[in-house]
Amino acid sequence: MSRGWKSKDIERYAGLFADRTHHMRSSVMRDLMAITARPEIISLAGGLPDTSSFPKDTFAQMMQEIAANHMAESLQYGPTEGFDDTKRHIVEIMAEEGMDADIEDMIVTTGGQQVIDIVTKTFINPGDTIICEAPTYPGAVPVFSSYQADVRQIEMDSDGMRIDLLEQEIAKLESEGRRPKFIYVVPTFQNPAGVTLSLKRRKRLVEIAKEKELLILEDNPYGLLRFEGTELPPLYALDRDGFVLYLGTFSKILSPGIRLGWVVAPAPVLEKLNLGKQAADLCTSSLTQYLVNAYFELGDWKQYVGSVKEIYRARRDAMLAALEEFFPPEAEWTTPKGGIFIWATLPGFLDTQDLLAKALGENVAFVPGSGAYVDERGGSSMRLNFSGSNESTIEEGIRRIGKVVQAQISLYSTLTGEFEAKKEPKDDSAESVAEVVQLKPEKGSKRKAGGK
Ligand SMILES: Cc1ncc(COP(=O)(O)O)c(C=O)c1O
Repeated sequence: MSRGWKSKDIERYAGLFADRTHHMRSSVMRDLMAITARPEIISLAGGLPDTSSFPKDTFAQMMQEIAANHMAESLQYGPTEGFDDTKRHIVEIMAEEGMDADIEDMIVTTGGQQVIDIVTKTFINPGDTIICEAPTYPGAVPVFSSYQADVRQIEMDSDGMRIDLLEQEIAKLESEGRRPKFIYVVPTFQNPAGVTLSLKRRKRLVEIAKEKELLILEDNPYGLLRFEGTELPPLYALDRDGFVLYLGTFSKILSPGIRLGWVVAPAPVLEKLNLGKQAADLCTSSLTQYLVNAYFELGDWKQYVGSVKEIYRARRDAMLAALEEFFPPEAEWTTPKGGIFIWATLPGFLDTQDLLAKALGENVAFVPGSGAYVDERGGSSMRLNFSGSNESTIEEGIRRIGKVVQAQISLYSTLTGEFEAKKEPKDDSAESVAEVVQLKPEKGSKRKAGGK
């Protein structure tokens, strides 16, 4: 039982906390996790892959193989940089997306999240600038805040980060005598927006990095989860000059529970990242690296990724159809060609934090858009996940959110007379929906200051 702390006890600890704790903030997804674990809740909030589709027999064989042949090593500490066999499998995974990596240039990490943490720890002094997308990966926001970074978010459209705006921001920083330490991007099937950086912009981004001698942290958990459209080269494949640090993960192609990711970086950077990782956890789990090794021996990883892609494609289609049916005509959303997220934006007077409270009353959850910003933007947007629930659950979840949205719109128009729900038919061509993606700051959002 909790000891029932009194406010004077709390004060005692509060006086001891480091300054950086005042900048720490919780990840919006983590906050929701306890609620969404309740069985009655339909969660479109998490970024959960469908682990139930993993072949049970293969899993049993993998465990058997480790028990029979690698028990002692898998229960032991391992090298900080990870086991060579695991790294060789990573080289194979990266080759699948056209990247030529070397095992000497990588560290196996405790998930991709650790890469964001150790890269930020390595480069950011309090007040240093990081540039990222607007919206950005909600799990990166608490990391950047913990290290007291000055975060500049660049708007996106349906082709990903607006590189013209990025150049403007860099020029503005230059005029202030500042230089960003790195540019953090999720170029393919972005979390949370679902959009993909076009080839032209990829090339220009890598050129800018070279011209200005800036580092890019490319975060690519979803590149292999493409349902349609032409494959695009990762930034890492376009960079010949060592400006791109690459983050990969097994979370969305095998399992997030094994907590395995990796970083590929030039030797001088890798050395510092290694020190950062040593301080954090000494080494990545030996057991789960052996699990991956056994998987590559016994299973067909490409076939498995192919099978989850088919599952996700059907779920994405179900979510798009449900949005069309149950969301008001004023709502807009992205049409991702892969990955696991759709980003929906409602009229600016709706606050998705408030809406979430009401949605939870209907036993459905999503991630409010504000969690993907360091400032007051995103207040009328939401991130919707389609990988973690089956089609009928998705449809029901979107129906319930749509009901809450409609109720709020009706209430608003009754109270203000300002807003009449329009019933215009939507143009349902995928491209035109993507064109109108509303990723800009919403005007007139009634989000409360400090409401996050
Ligand atoms: C863009 C992005 N980066 C990093 C991560 C962290 O992944 P991991 O499970 O590998 O720590 C996620 C997880 O959802 C993600 O979407």
